[in-house]
Amino acid sequence: MDVKTLVHYLGKELESIGHEYESREILENLFNQDISYLYAHDDLQVGQKTLCRLEEVIKARKSGQPLAYIFNKRSFFGRTFYVNPSVLIPRLETEFSVQELLKLSGDSFLELGIGSGCVSITMKLERPNLSVDGVDISDQAIQVANLNAKSHLAQTHFFKSNLFQEVSHSYDLIYSNPPYIRTEDMEILEDEVKKYEPHIALNGGEDGLDFYKKIIKDTPNYLNKTGYLVLEIGYNQKEEIFSLLEEVNFTGKCIQDYAGYDRVIIATRRK
Ligand SMILES: C[S@@+](CC[C@H](N)C(=O)[O-])C[C@H]1O[C@@H](n2cnc3c(N)ncnc32)[C@H](O)[C@@H]1O
Repeated sequence: MDVKTLVHYLGKELESIGHEYESREILENLFNQDISYLYAHDDLQVGQKTLCRLEEVIKARKSGQPLAYIFNKRSFFGRTFYVNPSVLIPRLETEFSVQELLKLSGDSFLELGIGSGCVSITMKLERPNLSVDGVDISDQAIQVANLNAKSHLAQTHFFKSNLFQEVSHSYDLIYSNPPYIRTEDMEILEDEVKKYEPHIALNGGEDGLDFYKKIIKDTPNYLNKTGYLVLEIGYNQKEEIFSLLEEVNFTGKCIQDYAGYDRVIIATRRK
């Protein structure tokens, strides 16, 4: 089979599950080549090993496995991060959080719930003088984040902690994108998310606010006087989170993402 025939075959297979737009990512990963190279050399014969891998990929994708887990990678803020099913696949919305974080001043940064480490590592690489700590309750997530830090040569300090439990410093910036799906909504998540992504990264308790409540309650003990608490939130959680901030005498503003959804809250102590 030549590349042209393979591209055509893959297109048809993806079309049958409504994922035609994923053709490019699959081809680039399969051949480890840019798509333009493949199109320019579409008469090349494809080896047996590649054909077998293609069949594996199609089978996995048809069963609902996300491409990021099939290829163990996802791009975030222009860099590639290793991912596996023990960590959330980095989201586009979270790149938006990073853009907001980068506008804030501060020398020290703490992330609660690092997952793949994509946010903390990006912060360190974009702001090399920032001291970056991050925690997660999942040992596997910490392993993945450390692997990513190593491959990006980012000097970050990741450790296991239930939110602030093992945190002993205070910081200028505290960020979290915690689990925030309401327990009853876990059932109606897309299969791809529900079946493959870690529930520990998604389930935010009965009202979806469990983690925000705990984080906001303890933040005054860990945030430096003029520091910022930055939270990524679900599109319908702004008002409740503002009320929680009010209780600790914080004030916040909410920023909408590219799609126009309430996405990031930036909070400070009330003056
Ligand atoms: C929504 S994911 C966010 C991951 C990463 N920050 C990102 O944006 O891709 C939430 C993360 O919080 C972690 N987590 C859940 N409960 C936690 C807890 N009690 N303490 C610390 N981390 C927790 C999960 O393991 C998961 O990695």
